[in-house]
Amino acid sequence: MKQSKEIVKDFNIAKFQEDLIGWFTAEQRDLPWRQDKDPYKVWVSEIMLQQTRVDTVIPYFNNFISKFPTLEHLADADEEDVLKAWEGLGYYSRARNLQYAVREVRDEYGGIVPETKDEVSKLKGVGPYTTGAILSIAYGVPEPAVDGNVMRVLSRILFVWEDIAKPKTRKLFDELVYAIISHENPSFFNQGLMELGALICTPKSPACLLCPVQEHCRAFEEGTQKELPVKTSKKSVKAVELAAAVVTDESGKVLIHKRSSKGLLANLWEFPNVEIQKAPSKEEELTAFLTEKYGVEAEIGQPFTTISHVFSHLTWHITVYEGKIRGKVEESETLKLLTWEEAEQYAFPVSHQKMKKAFKERQQD
Ligand code: ADE
Repeated sequence: MKQSKEIVKDFNIAKFQEDLIGWFTAEQRDLPWRQDKDPYKVWVSEIMLQQTRVDTVIPYFNNFISKFPTLEHLADADEEDVLKAWEGLGYYSRARNLQYAVREVRDEYGGIVPETKDEVSKLKGVGPYTTGAILSIAYGVPEPAVDGNVMRVLSRILFVWEDIAKPKTRKLFDELVYAIISHENPSFFNQGLMELGALICTPKSPACLLCPVQEHCRAFEEGTQKELPVKTSKKSVKAVELAAAVVTDESGKVLIHKRSSKGLLANLWEFPNVEIQKAPSKEEELTAFLTEKYGVEAEIGQPFTTISHVFSHLTWHITVYEGKIRGKVEESETLKLLTWEEAEQYAFPVSHQKMKKAFKERQQD
C-alpha cells in the first residue's frame, strides 16, 4: 500500500481546496439540515443519511425535527415515539442508538454535544464517519468524514487502487483527508466531497465534463474513472422463508407482537410470523406457532399476499395468511389485540406495513 504522503506529493492542495469549496459554496443543494449548524440537527441528519438517500431522508428529517426539535426533546421522548418517527427508514438500531446517545449527552455533557474526537466517537452509534461529519460541519474541526461516497470520489481524484471494502483502505483515506483538508473551512471541504459524490462523481456515469475539480483528477487524466473505486463484491445474501398471519377477533381487532429488544428490527411491532423449515404445511406451522408461542388459538385461512424484503445480509420471503382468533387472548407488554386505528400508533417494519395495506385492500374487494 502506498503511503498517503507519497500520494499527495505532487497534488496541488491549495488549488484543490479553493476549487472544491468555491463550487460547494455556489452549487450546494438547499437541504433542511443545512439551515444552521446546530450540532444536534447535524447529528440527526448524518445518522439518517447513513445507507439512505437524500430524497428519502428529507421528509423524515423534517418530521423528526418538528417532533423532537432539540436534543432534550429527543432525550425525554418515549422510545416508541422515536421508532414511530423512524418507521420505514430502516436500520432501526440507528434510532435506538441515537436516543441512547443523546441521553448520554444530556446526562454527562449538560446537553451540549461535545467538541472533541475522543468524546464524540464514544457516543453510541457514532462511528468514525459521523464523528468527522459532526465535528467538521457543526464545529469547524478539520477531521475527515469518509464514507463510501467520499472514498469513491477520492479514489478517482488521487488514483487509489486499494480495495475500499478493506478497513485498512478506509484508514488510508482518513490519512489522505488529514493531508488535504482545508483548515479554514473543513465543513465545506467535507460537504463538498459529499456533494461531488452525489451530484457529479456518481458511481456509474460520472459527469466529468462538469466537474469543478476535473483538472486535479488523476483518474480522469488516465480515462479510468469508471474503473474506480476497486471494491470486492459482497457475499451473497441468505434467503429466509417465513409465514405470517394477520389474525383478527370477532370484533375485528388484530393481534400484534413486539419484536425482541435484540437483533434485526429490535423493538418494532409485527404480525406474528415464523420461519418455515421445509414444513409439510405452512398453515399448520403457523397454527402451532400461535398456540405455543403466544397461547392464541386461531384458525388460519388463505394466504392473501406474498412479500419480499431485502436487508443488507438476508432476504425475507413472506407468505401472509389471514386468520380468525378462537377464544381469549392474554395481552402483555409485547402482545396486543388492537383496533386498526390503535395499531397506527405502533411502529412496524416496511414489510409488515405492506401486510397491513394488503389486508385492508383485500377487505375492500
Ligand atoms: N450524505 C451524508 N452526509 C450528507 C450531507 N450532510 N449532505 C448531503 N449528503 C450527505
